[in-house]
Amino acid sequence: MRIFFTGGSGKAGKHAVSWLLDQGHRVLNADLVPLDDPRVDNLRVDLTDIGQVYSAMSGLAGLDELDDPAGAPRFDAVVHFAAIPRILIGPDSEVFRVNTLSTYNVIEAAVKLGIRKVVFASSETTYGVCFAHGEQRPEYLPVDEAHPTVPHDSYAMSKVANEVTARSFQARTGIDIYGLRINNVIEPHEYADMFPAFVQDAALRRRNIFGYIDARDLGHMVECCLRTDGLGYQVFNVANADTSVDIPAAEIIARFYPDVPLRRDISGHETFYAIDKARELVGFAPKHGWRDKVSK
Ligand SMILES: NC(=O)c1ccc[n+]([C@@H]2O[C@H](COP(=O)([O-])OP(=O)(O)OC[C@H]3O[C@@H](n4cnc5c(N)ncnc54)[C@H](O)[C@@H]3O)[C@@H](O)[C@H]2O)c1
Repeated sequence: MRIFFTGGSGKAGKHAVSWLLDQGHRVLNADLVPLDDPRVDNLRVDLTDIGQVYSAMSGLAGLDELDDPAGAPRFDAVVHFAAIPRILIGPDSEVFRVNTLSTYNVIEAAVKLGIRKVVFASSETTYGVCFAHGEQRPEYLPVDEAHPTVPHDSYAMSKVANEVTARSFQARTGIDIYGLRINNVIEPHEYADMFPAFVQDAALRRRNIFGYIDARDLGHMVECCLRTDGLGYQVFNVANADTSVDIPAAEIIARFYPDVPLRRDISGHETFYAIDKARELVGFAPKHGWRDKVSK
């Protein structure tokens, strides 16, 4: 596929881009800064400017395409990861403005240029737990995609707004738009840096509903979504099947969720952030975990 990828220079994006390149796709990375990978085409684009978005998305991916007398081919898919990825990087209002405007621009351009597949990064924060004022517990467990999305913060608000935008464009056009409610992204080198502390103190992971996702498995999930057509508008939780802490699920429930209703048994070290939908509909199968990389 010829893929228009936004935010490919970032923490999550660079792993997803690398994964897609490994599968043989061509990737144009539209970002404010380039990705240092000789296999990727980079274009500096400010996605909050809709003129730049249309120009980039209807243009060439690289100089070699000058040799095609038919001109620039249409991109087969758009993967939209660019964003300000949490609160407290800029003012709340700027986080909301950049994230909602860039997502509107990217999806509008994709649908009007005739691109039939859009995959975009949403977030675990939509469920309202992560950046809540004080402690907010899930309404039930495990948290699946039907759980209410009522966040307190501008980042998660922007992601909920983006899901509404995506759903509306999908309803109008019938194309496939899949949103990924990504849990906390972990790069390979971060296991040794971060997880010993999580083993010592499971409470550090309360705001992430004890979940995480390896950046390489996130790349695999993007590929699963690109391979699976015809699902219309969907959102998918994306996390490891395991938790990010050493205590078993029963102890997590007793310590952190004593009054939270359980919709099914959660045993062993099973995730509280349900990934059944992604497994069933697109064949998501995360492989990279922390337990063999951290001494306890
Ligand atoms: N990192 C996580 O744990 C996590 C968890 C859930 C969801 N997400 C989502 O995944 C996506 C990627 O997150 P990340 O951690 O890689 O973030 P990141 O900040 O590392 O990367 C984001 C990229 O977007 C680019 N960008 C920002 N504004 C732009 C603009 N106006 N025009 C063009 N490019 C712009 C940045 O230059 C950067 O390269 C984001 O949508 C984020 O909200 C991340």
